[in-house]
Amino acid sequence: LERLGILTSGGDCPGLNAVIRAVVSHAVLTYGWHVVGIPYATRGLLDRAMMPLSLHGLDLKGIDPLLTMGGTILGSINKGDTLSRIQEVLDGYAALELDALIGIGGDGSLAILNQLATQGNWQFIGIPKTIDNDVACTERAIGFDTAVNTITEALTRLTFTAASHDRVMIVEVMGREAGHLALHSGIAGGADVILIPEISYSIAQVCQHLAELRDRWGRRFAIVVVAEGAHRSLESANQSCEAIKCGMGQYVANEIATCSPYPVDCRVSVLGHIQRGGIPSALDRLIAASLGKTAVDLIANGESQKMVAWQNGHAETVPLDAVLAKSPCSVDPASDLVQTARALGIYTGK
Ligand code: F6P
Repeated sequence: LERLGILTSGGDCPGLNAVIRAVVSHAVLTYGWHVVGIPYATRGLLDRAMMPLSLHGLDLKGIDPLLTMGGTILGSINKGDTLSRIQEVLDGYAALELDALIGIGGDGSLAILNQLATQGNWQFIGIPKTIDNDVACTERAIGFDTAVNTITEALTRLTFTAASHDRVMIVEVMGREAGHLALHSGIAGGADVILIPEISYSIAQVCQHLAELRDRWGRRFAIVVVAEGAHRSLESANQSCEAIKCGMGQYVANEIATCSPYPVDCRVSVLGHIQRGGIPSALDRLIAASLGKTAVDLIANGESQKMVAWQNGHAETVPLDAVLAKSPCSVDPASDLVQTARALGIYTGK
């Protein structure tokens, strides 16, 4: 093998550069390959563009800062026009004379790359990344842990100001159609209510829960974590439409203000892309190192169309078809974490 390509696809997240660093280090130090970055995912293949990441190992010192840098030095695109230009992408891949490709992406990107690999007979290995953590067959995708830490810190900060003013803080978090981010950070950040797309809830019950906190425990403030996709688990289609129109966090705030038996002072924080920024956590760096190293070994062994997964504290290999058949994966309402939240007195729906 002469030339290994690497690209990052879909929304960025902390830890992508750490994966690039691990792949380049192992590919150069152990196997002596050239590694080239493909800028802006498949758009780079269309444009036949590449960024040399190694020259027989001479550049290794230059990539050291990648360990801690957020985002991706390769750039990324979310929804390109790849599927309508498949032959051009395949031609671009051939023109760049790549012998194999490692793609770091969420389930959407991995599906497209897997299709291209089948049609173009590429040797391709995928690495899961997304703060949403909705790629199946892996306990963690790159970026999830850092995002959970970021939200947890935000919840801790908001708790102090909520308590000082007897307010209900509604915190809208990302996650697309999955509630993993909301559930993990809500428990870690001491939320009183966690609303996710996978479990139906009623605003009347949320208000009842807040009233109980006040009547039984004297708690005059509360932290409500709402997943951006939680409009899916509202009781009626009308409510869902309304929530989409005004934004999930704002909708919950309006409804609580209307339905609560006590006057409540709500404030809404939409954390937005702050959740995707920042330096990667130690765990994300560790997973990046392990998955990057394993992906390179799979390429060396001639394997293709597999994803490296993080399971039980180590890297494992799963066929991409199996991953894609089960993705995106949602929160299981019967999971230990949901039960834990409930046992701790957090309202998580019906
Ligand atoms: O998939 C990651 C994610 O951050 C989601 O949580 C969010 O819904 C979406 O991307 C935001 O996408 P964009 O950066 O295109 O606004």
